[in-house]
This record gives sequence, structure tokens and C-alpha cells, in this order.
Amino acid sequence: MANRIHPSILNANLASLDDEIRRIPSADAIHVDVMDNHFVPNLTIGLPVVECLRRNHPDRFLDMHLMIEDADVWAPQYAELGCESVTFHVEASRAPIRTARQLRSLGSKASIGLRPQTPIEPLADIIAEFDMVLIMTVDPGFGGQKFLEGMLPKIRRTREIARKAGQEIWIQVDGGVAESTIDQCVDAGADVFVAGSAVFRADDPDAMVRGLREQADRRCAGH
Ligand code: DX5
Ligand code: ZN
Repeated sequence: MANRIHPSILNANLASLDDEIRRIPSADAIHVDVMDNHFVPNLTIGLPVVECLRRNHPDRFLDMHLMIEDADVWAPQYAELGCESVTFHVEASRAPIRTARQLRSLGSKASIGLRPQTPIEPLADIIAEFDMVLIMTVDPGFGGQKFLEGMLPKIRRTREIARKAGQEIWIQVDGGVAESTIDQCVDAGADVFVAGSAVFRADDPDAMVRGLREQADRRCAGH
């Protein structure tokens, strides 16, 4: 399985998003954090801005991370814009299966996000509805927080549940992922890495993207 690096633009210059996205040509996707000031205590961008990003960057993979209430209403609208992947949170959805199927029927990958305190086990029987599971490794809402090592067993259990489902499911880790924490995530079974501050605070963000991916690949090869 190839490791993927999805830089989060939350800690980039949000008023110059086009330029920021052009700084990371090696990224496997652009991770876009949508916050509504209800699901999390922070507010970022929504459909109108994402529509412009789609238009300005037609060849980039847009990995939407919706940290918003009423996910069942909003998530399909991001798929309609042509986003390649849409993550909605299980805590904000009343009908995750229906929403996942809708996303897939609109041509997007369907992904489910979990806050740190949300267990993966209740999703075991419906995991095949999803192309990706996003495990938060910080409390969602802000970049630059410290990686929660306590999430590693959950990543392991998620990989085991996905394996049993017999389907290729990406496991994404989001929050505090950097050179100092990525090896542990690889060991636990993650293969999609969101890195916000690690990438955008680096002198050369694109070199950091390539470095993180090479580090993850090396760690995998050692298994
Ligand atoms: C936090 C967001 C993350 C965040 C990651 O709620 O979902 O994507 O931007 O930033 P870092 O990598 O700095 O923890
Ligand atoms: Zn995110």
C-alpha cells in the first residue's frame, strides 16, 4: 500500500490559498478543513471557497475534512463540486450509511471521521461502506496541537477491522503528524498522513512532503 501525504492548509496563509497550494506540488492531496463554529470552536471556509479551489486547481485531489454539524445535508454538496474525497464525522451524522452511499454515487470517496473519544468498534459492521477512516489524533478544531499517542491502539484496531472486512480502506491520521510521530502511525497501520504545521512551517514545504512520504515508505519497508 502506498503511503500518501495530504497537507492540511489550515495553517497556511488562508488569504492566499492558491499560492499556498502551488507550494506543495508533491502532495498526494490537499486536505481542506471545513469548520462551522458548532461542531468545533473554530470557523474556516465552506462551499463557495471550495468551489473556487476546485475551479483553480482542477488537477489536484481535494480531500475534504468536514468538522461541521448536519453532515448528512452538507457532505454530498462537496461531492457535487467534484471533490475526490469527503470525510464527515460520525458524531455529526444521523445516517452515515446513506450519506456514504450518496457520496460514492456522486463519484467521491466516502470517508468517516472519529474524534479521539469515539470508538471504532461500533462501525465494524459498516466499515465496508467507506473508502477511508479518519482517526483524529488531536481534538479537532486547530492546527499545531500535540499528537495523542493514546490513539495508536485505535489505529491498530481500525486496521484489523478493515483487514477483516477484506476491503482496501485507507486509514488517515490527522493532528500532530510530523517527522517525530509518523513512524508510530505507520507501525500502527495508517497510510494517509495529514500534516499541517509540519509542512507549512517548514522552510521548504514541498521538500517536507517528500521527506515525510519517504520516511513512511522506509518504515513500511522495514516491517
Ligand atoms: C484539526 C484539523 C487538522 C489540522 C492539522 O482539527 O483537522 O487537519 O490542520 O494540523 P497539524 O498537522 O498542525 O496538527
Ligand atoms: Zn483535518
